[in-house]
Amino acid sequence: MNAISRWWRLAAALVAFAGCADHGLSAPAAQRSDLRDEESDDDSNVVRVPGARTMLAANETGIGRTLTPTGSIDTDNLFFRSIGINGRACVSCHVASQGWTVTPEGLRERFERTGGLDPVFRTNDGSVSPLADISTVEARRNAYSMLLRKGLIRIGIGIPDGAEFELAAVDDPYGYASAAELSLFRRPLPSANLDFLSGVMWDGRETLAGMTIRQDLAHQSNSATQGHAQRPDPITDAQREEIVAFETGLFFAQALDFGAGRLDRDGARGGPEALSTTPFYLGINDTLGADPTGKPFDPEAMTIFAAWDGLAGSRLDDARAAVARGEALFNHKLIEVAGVRGLNDALGAPVIHGTCTTCHNAPEVGNHSVALPLDLGLTDASRRTPDMPLYTLRNKATGATIQTTDPGRALISGKWKDVNRFKGPILHGLAARAPYFHNGFAATLPEVVDFYDSRFAIGFTAQEKSDLVAFLRAL
Ligand code: HEC
Ligand code: HEC
Repeated sequence: MNAISRWWRLAAALVAFAGCADHGLSAPAAQRSDLRDEESDDDSNVVRVPGARTMLAANETGIGRTLTPTGSIDTDNLFFRSIGINGRACVSCHVASQGWTVTPEGLRERFERTGGLDPVFRTNDGSVSPLADISTVEARRNAYSMLLRKGLIRIGIGIPDGAEFELAAVDDPYGYASAAELSLFRRPLPSANLDFLSGVMWDGRETLAGMTIRQDLAHQSNSATQGHAQRPDPITDAQREEIVAFETGLFFAQALDFGAGRLDRDGARGGPEALSTTPFYLGINDTLGADPTGKPFDPEAMTIFAAWDGLAGSRLDDARAAVARGEALFNHKLIEVAGVRGLNDALGAPVIHGTCTTCHNAPEVGNHSVALPLDLGLTDASRRTPDMPLYTLRNKATGATIQTTDPGRALISGKWKDVNRFKGPILHGLAARAPYFHNGFAATLPEVVDFYDSRFAIGFTAQEKSDLVAFLRAL
C-alpha cells in the first residue's frame, strides 16, 4: 500500500470513529492526561515510547483499539515507570500502538532515533548474547538483530535440576548458550486481554500451582521487573497490585478493517467492547469435555461475525462475507491433527479429526481454555532458520535425542514429554502484532495459514486461505 492511499484510509477510518468520543477520544480526557503529566511531582522515571498512550492504532489492514476502564491510558501507572536499574519499564516491550507487544517496525524506529541506545536495547535479554559487542551503532545493529528483524527477546533458561534429559550438543550462532542458560528467542506476549488467560507465558512458567491467574500475574510483574529491568530486590505487593490492576483493565482488538469497515456493525461483535463482555472461566468449552459446567464441547467457538454470513452486493458486504466465511472455516474446516506432542500422545490417538477450534477453543477469544501447551513442530530442526540456536537434547533413560530451537515447557517441568510445547495464545489484535508464533516463524497471517496447511496437509484452496486470513485480521 503506498503512503498516500494509506493516509486516505487512515483519515477515513478516523472519520468512522468520530462518533465514539466516549471511548477514549474525548478532548477532556486528553487534556486531563496532559495536565496530569505537567503537574506530576516526579515523572523523571517515566519511560517514553512512541504510541504508548495511543487508543487507536493503525496497522496494515485496519485499526486496533484499546479499551480501558477510564477511557484513557494511565501513564502514571508503574507499568510506564523505570523501577529497575536499566531504564526499562513494562512499556519498553508492551506498547499500545503495537498491540501491547512490540513489532520489528516499532523497534527499528526506536533504534534509528536513538542510535540503538533506547532502553529496550540492553544486553541482558535484548541482544543475541549478553556478551555481544555494543560499542558502535553498527555493532549494536548486529547485537540487536533478533529484536530488529523479528521482535524477539532472548529468554535465558537453564536445564532444570533432575530433568529427564541433558543437553548433548549446542549450535549457537552467537556462541553463548550452554546447559546453564539456553538462549530462547521469543515474542513478547501481549499484556492485554489478560482476563482470558489460562496460563501465563509461552511455557506457562508463571502459572503457579494453587494460584489464581491474578496471583500469577502479580508474581510475573515482579519477575519481569527483576529480569527484564534487572532490579536487584523484589517489588512490593502494592507495586505488583498497581501493575496488575492496570494491565488486567486493558482490552485490545481490531476495531476497523479497511475492507470490512467497523467490525462491530450490522450484527457483528468485533472490537474491544464486545470482547470485554465475553464470558470466560477456566475450562470453558473444553475440547475433551472437561468444562466444569458439564457443557459438551462445541466446535463453533467463534460466532463474532456470523451475522455477516452471506452478505453481498457492495464491496463492503463482499469483504464482510469473506470475514464470516473465514470464521466458519476456523470452526469447521477439517484438520487431521497428528504428531502433536501434548495432544495425540496424551490421548493415545494418532489422528484427531479436529478444526482450528480443537486447540483454539475459548469462545470468541481463541486461546486454549485450560493450560495445555502443545508442540506444533515450530521448533523442529527442519524449520530452524540460521539465526536460531539449535539444541540437541538426550533422554537420560532411553538415550533418544531431539533437536530443537526451543524446548519450551520441558525447561520448566524437566519432563521429556513436554519438549517443544508452548501455549496457544489469545488470538485478538493479531493484525497489530506480526510476526507470529513464539519464535516469529510466520512473518504474516498468510504465512500462518500456509504453515498450518503444510503442517497438517489441510488442502486449503486459495479462496479459503484468503477468507481465513480476512477473519484472523479482523480479530
Ligand atoms: C524486555 C522486554 C520486556 C519487558 C521490559 C517486559 N516484558 Fe512482558 N514479556 C516479554 C516477553 C518476551 C514475554 C514472553 C516470554 C515467555 O513467554 O517466555 C512477556 C510476557 C508477558 C506477559 C504474559 C502474557 C501471557 O499471555 O502469558 C505479561 C502479562 C507481561 N509480559 C507483562 C509485563 C509486565 C507487567 C512488565 C513490567 C513489569 C513486563 N511485561 C516487562 C517481554 C518483556
Ligand atoms: C493442534 C492444536 C492447534 C491447531 C489445530 C491450531 N492451532 Fe493455532 N496455535 C496452537 C498453538 C499451540 C499455538 C502457539 C504455538 C507456538 O507459538 O509455539 C498456536 C498459534 C496460532 C497463531 C499465532 C498467534 C500469535 O499470537 O502468534 C495463530 C494466528 C493461529 N494459531 C491460528 C490458527 C488457525 C487459523 C488454525 C486452523 C487452521 C489453527 N491455529 C489451528 C495450536 C493449534
